Amino acid sequence: MPTLRYLGHAACELIHGDTRLLIDPFLTGNPLAAARPEELHPRAILITHAHNDHLGDALSIARRTGATVIANFEIATWLQQQGAAVHPLHIGGAREFPWGRVKLTPAWHGSTYIDERGQFHPLGNPAGLLVQFGGRCLYHAGDTALFGDLALIGRHGIDLALLPIGDNFTMGPDDALEAVKLLAPSVAVPIHYNTFDLIRQDAHAWARRVEAETSARCHVLAPGDTLEY
Ligand code: NI
Ligand code: MN
Repeated sequence: MPTLRYLGHAACELIHGDTRLLIDPFLTGNPLAAARPEELHPRAILITHAHNDHLGDALSIARRTGATVIANFEIATWLQQQGAAVHPLHIGGAREFPWGRVKLTPAWHGSTYIDERGQFHPLGNPAGLLVQFGGRCLYHAGDTALFGDLALIGRHGIDLALLPIGDNFTMGPDDALEAVKLLAPSVAVPIHYNTFDLIRQDAHAWARRVEAETSARCHVLAPGDTLEY
């Protein structure tokens, strides 16, 4: 069984045997970061969208480790131009890799990166990620709003769903609860909350609602916590 290690905000590491994958590695500048970028040795880095709190340290980790960055075409091309190994996908597309399979799913959000000079880089459309890894199916929702086609994504048979609950920029607790109903995962884990004051939420209260109103189990992970799934 694979293990999820929550790194804070939307960042996480998936571990199975000797293979480690990173998703949305925002660590530098993340007040909840549970790891330093230089400690990580991923095989691949998966990116939901280009916002700075998701792209994060992806480029420096990719350059140092040679990890392949898997992201939408615009993000992948932009990172490749800066020296990263990449594999571009786009929404609706999936690809088999030696360690598993990744599919980009729709998400309602933005995908612009702002560089250190304040320059805007619009980098395609935001996505969610379906990751088949270690015999399990994980869904990382990215920063999406609630939308009805989450029910279609749920038909993949999701073992673990990572859902934002922070509100303001993403789904809040009420909509994330509806998302669990549409996705019908075995386990739900809340992400993208408490990193900043604007997205402060009571994750344990949300977990109680999930377990009362859906058939999913819900685990609240502190940054650094791990969960076998
Ligand atoms: Ni975002
Ligand atoms: Mn975000």
